[in-house]
Amino acid sequence: MALPMRSVITGSGIALPQHLVTNDRLARIMDTSDEWIRTRSGIEQRYFAGPGLGSAELGSMAAEAAIRDAGLKPEDIDVVIFATMTPDHVLPGNGPLLQKRIGLRNVPTFDIRQQCSGFLYGLDLGDSLIKSGKFERVLLVGAETHSGFMPWDQGWRVVLGLSDDEPDEAEKSWNTQSRDRTVLFGDAAGAVVVERREQGAAGLLRTRLYSDGGVADALTMRGASFKQRPFVTKEQIAAGETIPVMNGREVFKTAVTLMPQAVRDVCADEGVTIEELDLVLVHQANLRIIEGVQKQLGLPAGKVPHNIERYGNTTAATLPLLFHECRQNGLAGPGALIAFTALGSGLHWGAALYRM
Ligand code: UT7
Repeated sequence: MALPMRSVITGSGIALPQHLVTNDRLARIMDTSDEWIRTRSGIEQRYFAGPGLGSAELGSMAAEAAIRDAGLKPEDIDVVIFATMTPDHVLPGNGPLLQKRIGLRNVPTFDIRQQCSGFLYGLDLGDSLIKSGKFERVLLVGAETHSGFMPWDQGWRVVLGLSDDEPDEAEKSWNTQSRDRTVLFGDAAGAVVVERREQGAAGLLRTRLYSDGGVADALTMRGASFKQRPFVTKEQIAAGETIPVMNGREVFKTAVTLMPQAVRDVCADEGVTIEELDLVLVHQANLRIIEGVQKQLGLPAGKVPHNIERYGNTTAATLPLLFHECRQNGLAGPGALIAFTALGSGLHWGAALYRM
């Protein structure tokens, strides 16, 4: 029997900004500690972009690496999908900025915003675009510069290692107000090239995507809204409302329930068992969530790799970054059966099943 046409990842690439920031550095500008951050989240360090470096540029670097890895040139790409919740501008999106930066033809670009699930949604969209017959080569990018959310003032110089003079108590106290979120995120980019292959067992097998706007408040940014006039006020900036808010416990509980279920769903759809999975690549928001998903699925720890300790939560960049590392270190070798899963603001969540 002839095998169906498949969407195959033929190249991957990543990019990191230059500033490696340890937990101890953050502890110099707010009331937090390496011990709290490690114990509660598993994070040991993250990378931050300095001013002037945005997610479009970071995403472009990852995209160029992925295109090279696929043995292609920018002019070979037919369509771009750019997933980010931290674009350079509200408008235009990062797609055309990347297109100009890396010298793509005038191909269409889609900007998507499913936050931590951006890569999963992008993979599904790319697969649909390929299977529609309209496109053969999709560039899918996930990139974030969360550092733009950080409300620090003098603290930035300390965080970036430009000064050892800690901020005054007033700033430390202000920085502490958002510590439950600011210590969790990092900046990064990951990209993959997805190509149509007429035959072969490798490729995307199944996806399951879900959204639930009923819990949109669990992880949202209240300030900067086109519902109000003007779209951001001085009072909102002063109240810290331009920093996302999160009901951490609620999101945590939801994540450890819905991600394993989504993985079970895609496996059932494909008629494979959980035991047959070689790898489960889980969105890296918290090491305790990743371990929770692993235990719920009854898998050994080695099948659920993590890199959150080195990067923090990098939202849409997380899954392509982890996937790239697993290709590099041989965990995602030829024939490996991989489930991707993510959950984040929206809520959006889901899973994808992929054969290397
Ligand atoms: O990618 C999007 C999806 N996001 C997630 O999946 C995140 C899900 N949630 C989580 O990962 C966890 O809920 C957090 C890591 C955000 C928080 O962990 P937690 O164990 O739920 O802590 P908590 O929010 O209950 O806070 C415990 C204590 C509080 O102090 P009190 O009230 O017990 O005195 C916080 O004020 O820890 C305090 N705290 C901190 N202390 C030191 C909060 N943030 C910090 C901090 N440093 N950075």
